[in-house]
Amino acid sequence: MIIAVDGPLASGKGTIARALSAHFRLPHLDTGTLYRAVAVAVTDAGAQPEDVAAAEAAAGSLDIRAIDETRIRTAGAGVAASIVAAHPGVRAALVALQRDFANQPGGAVLDGRDIGTVIAPHAHVKLFITANPEVRASRRHAELIHRGEQIGFDQVLDQLRQRDARDASRADAPMMKAEDAVELDTSELTQGDAIRAAIAIVEGRRGSA
Ligand code: C5P
Repeated sequence: MIIAVDGPLASGKGTIARALSAHFRLPHLDTGTLYRAVAVAVTDAGAQPEDVAAAEAAAGSLDIRAIDETRIRTAGAGVAASIVAAHPGVRAALVALQRDFANQPGGAVLDGRDIGTVIAPHAHVKLFITANPEVRASRRHAELIHRGEQIGFDQVLDQLRQRDARDASRADAPMMKAEDAVELDTSELTQGDAIRAAIAIVEGRRGSA
């Protein structure tokens, strides 16, 4: 079974994808880490994320075993990731890796922005996770503060709105709900309720497949 989990940042998609992976015993890939790692590699090379050639070179030589979790989780890496992710050449360089992961025997859970639409349009179950911007910004703010970053709530909300707009408006593989995806709004849900709701959706879809 392939499960596609898409949605904007801090919607709860990562938490839900990890929980589905544990519950259904399926391997999980957080595809945002790939774009974040490309962004960090571009910066390390002394280039800007807007630099198409530098971003494509970084994507082409990405070593997923060498991804530094601490460095890719900063607010700056998230912003830069959404810039490199708009370059079609970067996306093209990362497609095969993600499709191979999705199509491995037994299935997988992948979360991102274009899993249900581009990477695994044939996924058995597609979830589109949402939450209102203020709720998402407050979750992300708490997470960044917990990681030791000095950043204000308003700046997080600003970055979130900009990233949402950039991710949804890019020409290649924009963030959008696949036609056959089930939407789950986690604004008013506890983490446990959101996970239970997602498991119920998967169970329901699996039963009807
Ligand atoms: O999910 P996360 O915040 O880690 O993603 C970072 C950025 O990577 C997103 O803002 C988006 O631009 C990009 N991304 C993407 N497609 C995916 C996953 C992430 O374009 N499947």
